[in-house]
Formats: sequence, C-alpha cells, structure tokens
Amino acid sequence: MYKHLMKPILFRFNPETAHNMTFSALSFLRRIPFAGSVTRAIYKKEYRSLQREVFGINFPNPVGLAGGLDKNGEFYNDMANFGFGFVEIGSLTPKPQDGNAKPRCFRLPADKAIINRFGINNKGVKNAVEHLKKVRPEVIVAANISKNASSMNEDAAKDYEKAFALLYDFVDMFVVNVSCPNVVGLTALQDVSFLSDIVDRLLDLRMYYDTFRPILLKVSPDLPKQQLDDIIDYCLRSGIDGIVAGNTTRSRDGLTTDNERIEKIGNGGLSGAPLYRKNLELVRYIHEKSERKLPIIGVGGIMSGEQAKEMLDAGASLVEIYTGFIYEGPAIVKKILRYLDEAKSNKKK
Ligand SMILES: Cc1cc2nc3c(=O)[nH]c(=O)nc-3n(C[C@H](O)[C@H](O)[C@H](O)COP(=O)(O)O)c2cc1C
Repeated sequence: MYKHLMKPILFRFNPETAHNMTFSALSFLRRIPFAGSVTRAIYKKEYRSLQREVFGINFPNPVGLAGGLDKNGEFYNDMANFGFGFVEIGSLTPKPQDGNAKPRCFRLPADKAIINRFGINNKGVKNAVEHLKKVRPEVIVAANISKNASSMNEDAAKDYEKAFALLYDFVDMFVVNVSCPNVVGLTALQDVSFLSDIVDRLLDLRMYYDTFRPILLKVSPDLPKQQLDDIIDYCLRSGIDGIVAGNTTRSRDGLTTDNERIEKIGNGGLSGAPLYRKNLELVRYIHEKSERKLPIIGVGGIMSGEQAKEMLDAGASLVEIYTGFIYEGPAIVKKILRYLDEAKSNKKK
C-alpha cells in the first residue's frame, strides 16, 4: 500500500512537507481506538532468533530507527509499532533551534537517496524530556545528543553534558553526534582533543548515576584514515561503549542523478543507497581495527534484508535505517527481520 498509494502522494510534496504531513497523520492515528494495535498487527513481528544483548541491553531485534526522523522525541512509540527493535531520537540540543534556511531537504529518486542540510532543527532537550515523562517508551530509546549551533566548539562539552544529564533518567542509551555535516564546525569535534573533552566528561558524569546507560559515538564516513584510527584508539582507551557508523556523507560519488540538479541542490549530507558500500566498509574497518572489541551500529543506505545481513556480517552488532524507510516504506523492517530470521534458520539446517 505504501509504495503504490502513499509514496506517490507524499513524493509530490517537498520532503519536509511530506515529513510533517506523515507525523501529523501519526498524531491523528493515536486518537483512533485500536489504530496502534492494528499497525502492530500488520507490521510488527517478534523473532526469538533475532533477540540479542549488546552493551548490556536486551534488544528484541537488531533493526533500529536512525537519528533524525523522530528528531524531537515525540514519536518513539508510533515508530516502534512498525517493528523497530529500538528507536534513536534526536539529534537533540540543549536549547531549541530552527536549523538552516529552507529548502533544506531533497530527494534523488533515481538514486534512492536524500540530500539534507537541516542543521539539527529541533525543539530542544526539555521538550523531549517532557514527552518522555508523559508517554512512557514501549521501546528501547537511544537519545542522540549534539551541541547548539550557536555554541562555540570550545564550549561544546557543556552542551553535551547538559543534554546528557537532562535525558539520563528517561532513555536507555546515548549517541554523541559529532559528525553532522550540516552544522558549521561540528565535524571538527571529531578531533580527539575535542572529542576526549566531550566524552570523558560524559563518562565521568555517568559514574554518579545508579543506572548504567551505554554511550556511543556517531562518526562520519568522510573521516581521513589517520583521524579515524585516532578515534578508534581513543574509543578503546576511554571506555566508551560503541560506535555508530556512520552519518551522511559530503561526497557525491556514484550518483546517477544529473550533475546540474546535484549542483543546484548544493551542500548537504547524502544518505540512502549510494552511501551503502561506503558505510559498510567503514563498519568493517572499525570492526577489524578495534580487533572486534567495539560494538558497532551499522547505518547507511540499508534497503533490504540482504544488506542488513551484510552489515551485520561485516561486524555490526545492530543496524539502523532512515532513508530506506522513506523509499521502501514501513514494511521494510518486517522484510529485513524475516530475511534475517530465515538466514539464521538456513544456517542451522
Ligand atoms: C533528513 C535526515 C535528517 C537526519 N538528521 C540526523 C540528525 O539529526 N542526527 C544524526 O545523527 N543523524 C541524522 N541523519 C543521518 C541518519 O541518522 C543516518 O546516519 C544517515 O541518513 C544514513 O542512513 P540512511 O542511509 O539509512 O538514511 C539524518 C538523515 C536524514 C536523511
């Protein structure tokens, strides 16, 4: 139904409008009795074979929603109805922020890709906390946190600390986003001197809590090799719990969409099918370089069960999708899980 009915309608609107329309529809559905149960009956299936424990958390399945779709942390339960094993909310910043000027999101249907330069527009951490207090999560929630665009990189650690402390009691794990290409200067925080200032503070702060929340670092696929090696080395030394690999890319390699359109769109992070190989190799590299010691969430261009399996085989403990959900529709989660389950039972035979 999505591919033949809803997608053609939604794709007539610009991506941001389509996104807002979809989320308004989800809010409306909440008011209809049994709509949630019907959605779950259609899309959600549990597989004992796919349950796994990673960083001390028991995941019902390894397929999560990537950061940026439920950017304000208001739709985690609605998204869980589509069968996700966990939902990443955010990126959330301490203060609300508007992000970059519109238009700031573009579809490339010929490439099953998106270019976005939202610039982490969000309603801020406090709004998310209010929602998390009001609506108890029925799914594992990871909070993706970042700094406000207006904060200098030298003060970034304070922003991360604030977002972390406010969210700590209400989410299950954290993703530290230092790799969004759409906030000026943010990717510079991947330099280990900045990174250690941010992450060490969070690791120290965590010691004061009775409960343990895993902390992961989200990296860019565009990192020079030496910088990536330094980050892996730092992650192994610091005691951080894992890596999300990775964010969108600035590269425009391998696109079939004509150059004129790409140039007209301009800056932004590319996601979707063209990112798949790049992020797969990033996952494989981190897995091998860290001698399999760092749990990895593999994300980038996953559109099918085969690709999710390949990402897991390359060393990811979990995977996430965003652009695949837009192009393939909500049934993508069910299809991936069925494929993974079948692959497991074929292996056993
Ligand atoms: C429109 C859009 C907005 C995004 N916003 C965020 C964000 O706020 N924070 C973040 O860490 N990643 C964000 N991402 C990146 C995704 O989480 C993911 O890392 C990337 O899109 C690659 O996965 P995909 O190819 O499955 O989309 C965004 C991606 C898209 C397409």
